Amino acid sequence: EKGGYEHFMLKEIYEQPRAIKDTYRGRLLADQGLIRMAGIDQNLEKFTNANRIIIVACGTSWHAGLVAEYIFEDLARIPVEVEYASEFRYRNPVITDKDVLIAISQSGETADTLAAIKLAKEKGAFVFGVCNVVGSSIARESDAGAYTHAGPEIGVASTKAFTTQITVLTLIALKLAKAKGVFSESKYHEYLSELETIPAKVEKALESNPLIEIISDVYKDSTNCLYLGRGYNFPVALEGALKLKEISYIHAEGYPAAEMKHGPIALIDEHMPVFVIATKKGHYEKVVSNIQEIKSRKGKIIAIVTEGDEQVTDLADHVIEVPETLESLTPLLTTIPLQLLSYHIAVMRGCNVDQPRNLAKSVTVE
Ligand code: F6R
Repeated sequence: EKGGYEHFMLKEIYEQPRAIKDTYRGRLLADQGLIRMAGIDQNLEKFTNANRIIIVACGTSWHAGLVAEYIFEDLARIPVEVEYASEFRYRNPVITDKDVLIAISQSGETADTLAAIKLAKEKGAFVFGVCNVVGSSIARESDAGAYTHAGPEIGVASTKAFTTQITVLTLIALKLAKAKGVFSESKYHEYLSELETIPAKVEKALESNPLIEIISDVYKDSTNCLYLGRGYNFPVALEGALKLKEISYIHAEGYPAAEMKHGPIALIDEHMPVFVIATKKGHYEKVVSNIQEIKSRKGKIIAIVTEGDEQVTDLADHVIEVPETLESLTPLLTTIPLQLLSYHIAVMRGCNVDQPRNLAKSVTVE
């Protein structure tokens, strides 16, 4: 059942190249310059005329929503708000029939996300669901949607659901960018063909697994960790911290790298591992200076870098390389080593990786 893997989580981490491919199969037709998604095609005007897109989700799906905010605004120039479903549903939000609400949920059963959808529908918004489980409550309640096609996710810690959610949301953003005419033809084609290279690049990122195991052994007894990233990789930092917390029970926090100096920097000493996403595309020089600030306070730096990196490699205690890609697609790669790190640390600490204490796969009560 676990396909020779020791845990479902590891199996699902390794399934990501295939899962991402399954997500865009039949939708991404790069040679024809086409993205085909019935749920978007049939409701295109709802999206292109929308005042804004509101994304609601919980946990890891909320992190995918944050990545989507960067992608939608950057590529399609549509204003986006991302909200925790639990906050949204109770704060008397301003919703109109010019709003599009996207609900993201692996299980499609999360109670708060379901309630947020119902509220948005009552107020006349168009509701689009991004779910993994076919026929789930959120999928059924939505006006339209797109499945992630990641296959069953059994490990409580979400992995392939996250990368496939980002894949679907990227396809949607590209479609809308094209429909709105805010994207040059050449940029659009560059994105389509780069997306097709992602599964092979995820495969490459997985090859760092032996190195990640060694690094995990160094930091497995930590009591606190920081995760830093900027831009598209800020949500990846949040997701890295969540993965570590939920399966290894080590306290971890994710921050936008530049926020460090507004407080968290006070925590840094020689006992604090800091995981920094420092890929070449995306504020690289600024992240380098953040790394220098950590180093001068003796923090331990584990950096996720682009293949062939030199500058961060000189500064960091450990580096893990990922292949180069377009900036907006980097989360699909940078998240892989962070999943593996949490996995190995949790295993080394003797934790029940697939079923962490106090957690359920699907949170059907608020
Ligand atoms: C984290 C995790 C949870 C879920 C959250 C939302 O690894 O599994 O944070 O992401 O409960 O669940 P779905 O996506 O099913 O709505």
